[in-house]
Amino acid sequence: LFSSRQIHSLPPESASFGIAFDIDGVILRGNIPIGGSSRALKRLYDDSGNLRIPYVFLTNGGGVPESKRAAELTKLLGVNILASQVIQGHSPFKQLVQRFENELIIAVGKGEPATVMSEYGFKNVLSVDEYASYFENIDPLAQYKNWTKQLTGNRNSSSREMDTIDDPCSQRVKAVFIVSDSVDWSRDIQVLCDILSTGGLPGREIASQPPLYLANDDLSYQGLFPTERLGMGAFRIALESIFNRIHPNVLKYTSYGKPNPTAFRNAENVLMQVVPSHSSHPENRGQHTFKTLYMIGDNPSVDINGARQAGLHWFSILTRTGVFKGEKNHANHPADLVVDNVEQAVAYILRKEG
Ligand code: G3P
Ligand code: MG
Repeated sequence: LFSSRQIHSLPPESASFGIAFDIDGVILRGNIPIGGSSRALKRLYDDSGNLRIPYVFLTNGGGVPESKRAAELTKLLGVNILASQVIQGHSPFKQLVQRFENELIIAVGKGEPATVMSEYGFKNVLSVDEYASYFENIDPLAQYKNWTKQLTGNRNSSSREMDTIDDPCSQRVKAVFIVSDSVDWSRDIQVLCDILSTGGLPGREIASQPPLYLANDDLSYQGLFPTERLGMGAFRIALESIFNRIHPNVLKYTSYGKPNPTAFRNAENVLMQVVPSHSSHPENRGQHTFKTLYMIGDNPSVDINGARQAGLHWFSILTRTGVFKGEKNHANHPADLVVDNVEQAVAYILRKEG
């Protein structure tokens, strides 16, 4: 163990601390549990399977609704994970419902990006797959992409009610949301440049840019491949570079997720709601304050950098199971503690907290 800071001394109250777990590179690689993650999580429950220690997943990943992600994690890890314990990169998008509730918005990324947005309450949302299928020849390479589903002429078979949206080609797109990693960069960069450079009306003249929101700005992340994979931040750089060459004004965007301090504040608020019932009166739930919050992450510039900015009550633990593979600590974003894996991290926390 390599520790750069002494943990605060804490009274032995069961809910005086909470834990935020990163997923990719800490809990899972791809869909494979790593670092003793299942055993580590089981220690946070009592013998009857009731939650003993408040914890959440704070991941920049996503692409499916929180309820579905919680069910997937429950199956993979063998503990009962609630939807309320899953904070994904795109979870803060629900705060924008009032602004775009009935406006046409486009959702981009792997998984079910439009379903995610519909479940948040957006009523007029199309995935970029669906949207592109309304424009003939918008992707001149489509005919060579024999791996893609052809949506044209087959749109009524969608589980979501696309018929409620009349002729998306003549409706102005009011915002674009990058919910999860783009599957087809060439098509998505083309279509997003079309939308963003024309005020939301592809094929028309140059106009001012509609808002663009991204679930995270991770340059890379740790999947199953031995070295890191390009993430949403890399996609953003590609889109931005091209947009800035074709539009008179530079691309404006807002990215959510870690390392933004708001992601950590939100995690703290969510943790207050998952405080086990025996350690806090239900009426006081949500007003609970933690002395220490632990962030267990694998990415120094995202997880550790974010936790360090979030306040002194955040204690950062860096694992060696993902993006970070160093021996000692990270030079630019040193964690409070470096361990081999999440199981060691949880053992450390439980030992310190008594
Ligand atoms: O696409 C997922 C990646 O950006 C990071 O996920 O769980 O390491 O925050 P996570
Ligand atoms: Mg990670």
